[in-house]
Amino acid sequence: MIKIITVIGARPQFIKAAAISRAIRTSYADKVKEVIVHTGQHYDRDMSQVFFEQLEIPREDYNLGIGSGSHGVQTAGIIVALEEVMLKENPNGVILYGDTNSTLAGAVVASKLRVPIIHIEAGMRSFTKEVPEEINRIMCDHVSTLLFTPTQTGAENLYAEGFKRDNVAPYHVDNPKVIPCGDIMYDNSLYFKDVALAKSEILDKVGVQKDAFVLVTIHRNNNTDNTDRLKDIFETLDRLSDVNKTPFVIPLHPRTRKMLGSMADLESRISANKHMHIIPPASYLDMICLEANAEMVITDSGGVQKEAYYFEKPCVILQGETPWVELVSNGCAELVDADPTRIEAAFYYFRKNKNSMHYAPVFGDGKAAEFTIGKILEFLPVGKA
Ligand code: UD1
Ligand code: UDP
Repeated sequence: MIKIITVIGARPQFIKAAAISRAIRTSYADKVKEVIVHTGQHYDRDMSQVFFEQLEIPREDYNLGIGSGSHGVQTAGIIVALEEVMLKENPNGVILYGDTNSTLAGAVVASKLRVPIIHIEAGMRSFTKEVPEEINRIMCDHVSTLLFTPTQTGAENLYAEGFKRDNVAPYHVDNPKVIPCGDIMYDNSLYFKDVALAKSEILDKVGVQKDAFVLVTIHRNNNTDNTDRLKDIFETLDRLSDVNKTPFVIPLHPRTRKMLGSMADLESRISANKHMHIIPPASYLDMICLEANAEMVITDSGGVQKEAYYFEKPCVILQGETPWVELVSNGCAELVDADPTRIEAAFYYFRKNKNSMHYAPVFGDGKAAEFTIGKILEFLPVGKA
């Protein structure tokens, strides 16, 4: 039996961890003991607890209760509290997901304590360090022992940074192993789709019909913290929904809600438009239901742009770059940044061409989580890194 600490803290990490916890429970319960540490980075009920309930994630063993703060305050707070837990639990390995401040803090603590790091969603790059997540990803990857990449592009990015293609066991932090494995978020979408479509009442609640609304999410710091960009985005969405008499459903991250709340003119203009439906953050099942039924998706979220692809919906990406390059190269998503002209052009292009797009398989076979645990058991070094 090996003991693994899972460190999670932000919404997409709860969702990713659900797939791995489910695989441990169903196939490896006698081989892996999982200790879940919630850093407390996200804490509102609709940003945290609802995912534990809906995705059947075991209740966390520890909650560090760190909450919001500047990058330094948040990351340092997690480092201090997590070190104590790691020393007490003395795990064989630690699982870190993606690219948040919780990921970075976990990487600092585990690497200094010489606990092998298993990085899930490794190798993703947007090739600009203006994105705080890019810094977190790179730093975590370079102190990891097992690097699970959701796409082949992720693996190629790592090889280009010096990771070896054909190295052999034993693996450790100075001889790390890159393992393309497929995307565990895709596992979840397949697993929960039917129940979401059967159970979610979100379409009726919002008052929209299948294929007759656009789903929007906005939360990236370069959009929320720059009032010019935020204004450009919301004014364009407002105009598109009004001119086309098309409902835009916008489950709003608390960060964006706060910024919008400080822009009174814009907020009141949006509330006056009956086609703009700003709603609280959606639960996972509601979100799956919205994605599966939308005409198209407009988002700056990494996870949501992938889910749009899984559900074969075109996606307008409100960023200048994406680590999920296949979505764009396959013609199913467009990078438009926060540029009103480009947002509008992409909207009309996808409206016209949405039925002639081809969503080639990119994200594996929906069994990435099982595969990942199998490889962890095969490759995780016993003892310290
Ligand atoms: C974080 C991640 C980002 C990820 C996103 C997922 C970092 C650097 N960023 O961004 O990669 O895409 O989570 O959603 O780790 N807030 C609340 N209630 C909450 C959580 C946040 O009100 O439960 C508000 C606070 O005002 C907080 C702000 O949102 O300051 C930002 O939260 P934070 O966790 O720092 O970053 P995210 O933008 O959520
Ligand atoms: N999500 C959700 N409710 C929402 C918005 C997003 O359940 O209101 C889910 C979404 O389906 C995806 C994940 O959260 O699985 C993406 O997380 P987010 O957009 O917060 O962060 P990112 O993926 O950009 O890091």
